[in-house]
Amino acid sequence: MPLLREAAGPATIIRREDYTPPPFWIDRIELTFDLDPAKTRVLNKMVLRRNTEVPAQPLRLDGEELNLARVMLNGGGCSFKMDGDALVMESLPDGPEPFELEIFTTCSPEKNTQLSGLYLSQGDFFTQCEAEGFRRITYFLDRPDVMASYTVTLRADKDKYPVLLSNGNLVEQGELPDNRHFAKWSDPHRKPSYLFALVAGRLVAREQRIVTRAGKEHLLQVYVRPGDMDKTEHAMNSLVSSVIWDEARFGLALDLERFMIVATSDFNMGAMENKGLNIFNTKYVLANSATATDTDFANIESVVAHEYFHNWTGNRITCRDWFQLSLKEGLTVFRDQEFSMDLCADASARAVKRIEDVRVLRTMQFAEDAGPMAHPVRPDQYVEINNFYTVTVYEKGAEVVRMMQTLVGRDGFRKGMDLYFQRHDGQAVTCDDFAQAIADANPDSELARQPDAFKRWYSQSGTPRVTARGTYNAEERRYTLTLDQSCPATPGQAEKLPFVIPVAVGLVDAGGQDLALRLSGETHAVAGSRLLVLSEASQRFVFEDIDAEPVPSVLRGFSAPVIVDNGLSDAQLLHLLAHDSDAFNRWEAGQQLALRRAVAAIRAEGPVAAQPLDHAVVEAMRAVLRHPTLDAALKELVLTLPSETYIAEQLDEVDPQRIHAVREAMREQLAQALQADWVWAFEQHKDNGAYRPDPVSSGRRALAGLALTMLCLDARQTGDTVWPGKAYQRFKDAGNMTDRFNALSALVVSGQPLAQEALARFHTMFRHEALVIDKWFALQAGAPDRGGNILPSVRQLMNHPDFSLKNPNRARSVIFSFCSANPAGFHRADAAGYVFWSERVLELDAINPQVAARLARAMDRWKKLAEPYRSAAREAVARVAAKSDLSADVREVITRALAE
Ligand code: BES
Ligand code: ZN
Repeated sequence: MPLLREAAGPATIIRREDYTPPPFWIDRIELTFDLDPAKTRVLNKMVLRRNTEVPAQPLRLDGEELNLARVMLNGGGCSFKMDGDALVMESLPDGPEPFELEIFTTCSPEKNTQLSGLYLSQGDFFTQCEAEGFRRITYFLDRPDVMASYTVTLRADKDKYPVLLSNGNLVEQGELPDNRHFAKWSDPHRKPSYLFALVAGRLVAREQRIVTRAGKEHLLQVYVRPGDMDKTEHAMNSLVSSVIWDEARFGLALDLERFMIVATSDFNMGAMENKGLNIFNTKYVLANSATATDTDFANIESVVAHEYFHNWTGNRITCRDWFQLSLKEGLTVFRDQEFSMDLCADASARAVKRIEDVRVLRTMQFAEDAGPMAHPVRPDQYVEINNFYTVTVYEKGAEVVRMMQTLVGRDGFRKGMDLYFQRHDGQAVTCDDFAQAIADANPDSELARQPDAFKRWYSQSGTPRVTARGTYNAEERRYTLTLDQSCPATPGQAEKLPFVIPVAVGLVDAGGQDLALRLSGETHAVAGSRLLVLSEASQRFVFEDIDAEPVPSVLRGFSAPVIVDNGLSDAQLLHLLAHDSDAFNRWEAGQQLALRRAVAAIRAEGPVAAQPLDHAVVEAMRAVLRHPTLDAALKELVLTLPSETYIAEQLDEVDPQRIHAVREAMREQLAQALQADWVWAFEQHKDNGAYRPDPVSSGRRALAGLALTMLCLDARQTGDTVWPGKAYQRFKDAGNMTDRFNALSALVVSGQPLAQEALARFHTMFRHEALVIDKWFALQAGAPDRGGNILPSVRQLMNHPDFSLKNPNRARSVIFSFCSANPAGFHRADAAGYVFWSERVLELDAINPQVAARLARAMDRWKKLAEPYRSAAREAVARVAAKSDLSADVREVITRALAE
């Protein structure tokens, strides 16, 4: 049933500066659930007391879509009133003594299509409470700074719901009349309501016991539906690695006897860190070599780790308010990135992981920072907090933590983390508290010298620009590097103060070696990279004893989330691409060379050049591909051109069709010019033995996959049928999903006639594997547009019997793959893509506002579009805005998109 919503009143803006501590504390809560899909009964007994540190106020309990049956105060009647959704009690006992409230409500899980609060997934019960879903389960002070001890009793039918789970430890279970049973759970740790969870259903678990350093035994469980047990090994291995890593790197041990992960196929996000009972989207749990790709395996490893790491960074120390979201998310993303890097066997694999992370940051977060939804890592205001689970809070937030580590060193960062836990364990704190702990533990660091300037990374939005210019003085044997910084205006922030920017730099000599570096005033030269800290608008760094003009390699390892203008010539970039000891900047040099060619061809008048790349770049790419020692994963990254989205961000005016045409022309050129090299690469990397998702073999599969795509692309030009035939054969014979899907994708992406046959066969093979069918949908909706063919096929896919708008994974696989990941398919001169978008936003908004609001963001950058796209896009956005009963979620995104 669609949501019935009031026509829009004025949006309520929540402001960070308005924060006040809660007027009441809730010390304990005892919840009893009678689980029933149509009508679940919830008895909530809680012990509250006034917070005497703030002026006496009425108690306002949050609630949403609840049916209230009874309220009792200290076992007797009491007066209360409703104010909108809130339950308000004005005449509560004065003074600090605890009192007891008993609130009885019901709710309807089967009607909950928003997947926030208590809902059903394939007949089983799940909860999702972050950020404000607990209020959809019972009346409560639903804010993260109110931490309570939870006892939870679940009662349900024994056959339909044999497994009953909640946070903490199972303390009692037994039979009830009418074929029902119960389980009672007690969480030994106080927690905010957003970490509450329950699960009930027919589930099975893979179990493993582990012993931590202190000699304590813990039970780890991964719960899935009965048919999915054969896809749980990798998630369990990832969990075990995570437990071990957090103890080894940060001294943080598991604080629970039992740690559970449960998978559900209906989930708005990736996964959720509920205390002791993490709930996951099946996409980030289920994997075996037949159904999941290398990317899936890597994602599972990092998402399992991420949620586990929240147990300390998020759960033990939580956020004071939702403006501090990056306190837990930025820090925990940083931790999961470090974990994945530490699992890598060598420096090259670490660099590959770093490049992948930076690629996400630069395409997604830089675009967000330049658009209407730009906000600081610690936002100042929101209408709907769900709209602020963003790449800025997450990925840029992680970069801010990474810069702290860079400034204080790895050991210093560990000391800072220790101090953070010493000071704040069990508390709800702010981003400033975190930065201060890292600074205080490292009094001699650059971070401690200017903590307030550094904290601007939390308060100022926008991506800083850094200009680097070098001059060489042969007589004085000096090289002077001048670094300038600036930051463009963003919504609500016209002027910015300088940031503290760690810039890792190397100087590469003519032979490709790093020079030893000595800054003026220093006594010793240091080999390799060194860290410059830019904290003023402009600073000069003078290097001594330089015998010949070097090529500067600036921002090695992407040491800060900034846009660099390095002023390098093509020749200098080619030098770095051939020699830089820093794998990140080596990759970056190749990206910049390709980007320059792309931008030139896009800006040129007339039809798109057939061969936008010049000889030097093609030969440099060939040299990388044939390089005797570089590993396959890095080669695959270098040989992959910057995405259309990233190219678009470099332009003032965006013509998505022209960008697509130029990038495709470049791809075809590389396919043709390097044909023999692609054959070599494919033959050399196609066989990898028994499947293992490690960096080396997954890198080899990635390069073989790229080679096959290039060979099919070239075959399309020449009319060759041998390589498409080989791709089809590989698709049929593949021993794992990565090779199979790459072969299928090579056929689809190159528009080969065999693609249709392969797609049909793939669907038949995997029709019972929902996650694989998601890939099947996504591949088709995201395929390169040829003459406007994608939108009609997307509309057809939506009529496929396997399609459902209610399942977020399925909706994303078709609609998001088209609207957000296929610019050339989406941005049509006839505006049909935008019409499709507006229809889907409205349709989804009636089912699931959170998912709808994410889709709404596909139009964030409409103002950058060239005509006729711009006018048509504005019209589509305005059409959505004209709807009177939009959710607050979608309303906020659309209002910002239209703002001047
Ligand atoms: N706490 C979030 C999940 C969440 C986000 C719940 C927003 C409710 C609203 C969780 O820790 C998280 O960050 N999950 C990410 C994956 C992670 C690896 C970055 C997600 O779900 O996308
Ligand atoms: Zn998280």
